[in-house]
Amino acid sequence: MSLRGIGIVLVLFVLGVAFSGFASYSADTFQHKEEKAIDAEKLVMQNCASCHGKDLKGTETAPSLYEKGQKLSAETIQQIIADGVAPNMPGGIIKDHKEISAVANYITNLEK
Ligand code: HEC
Repeated sequence: MSLRGIGIVLVLFVLGVAFSGFASYSADTFQHKEEKAIDAEKLVMQNCASCHGKDLKGTETAPSLYEKGQKLSAETIQQIIADGVAPNMPGGIIKDHKEISAVANYITNLEK
């Protein structure tokens, strides 16, 4: 094999190692993010704002989540999210318990 041939093989080898390293690195970071990132604000906007108002401060039909967040404990709010409130608030809109707990904490932390 000529010197140049060896050079090319070497370059391809190095590129291969570098790429596989990068591929597994980015796969790891991606999975990590998927596990961690529960966006409570987004969940509230998607699941609660339609009734409780875009600003969460209540509508004609549903009370302000700011006020409820000041009065109720996170545990109570988790229960409410899971079970709903008869007859007008459906339970089980959010099913993942980590998401439920993140949303409950988010609401108790809303400032007036
Ligand atoms: C379909 C409309 C609707 C949706 C969607 C909805 N709610 Fe409600 N929610 C209501 C209504 C209506 C009430 C008032 C019920 C009552 O007091 O009779 C209520 C009450 C509440 C209360 C207070 C209950 C109490 O005992 O004082 C909390 C807390 C609450 N909702 C949180 C949420 C959260 C968090 C979400 C999103 C995961 C959500 N709601 C989604 C309609 C809705």
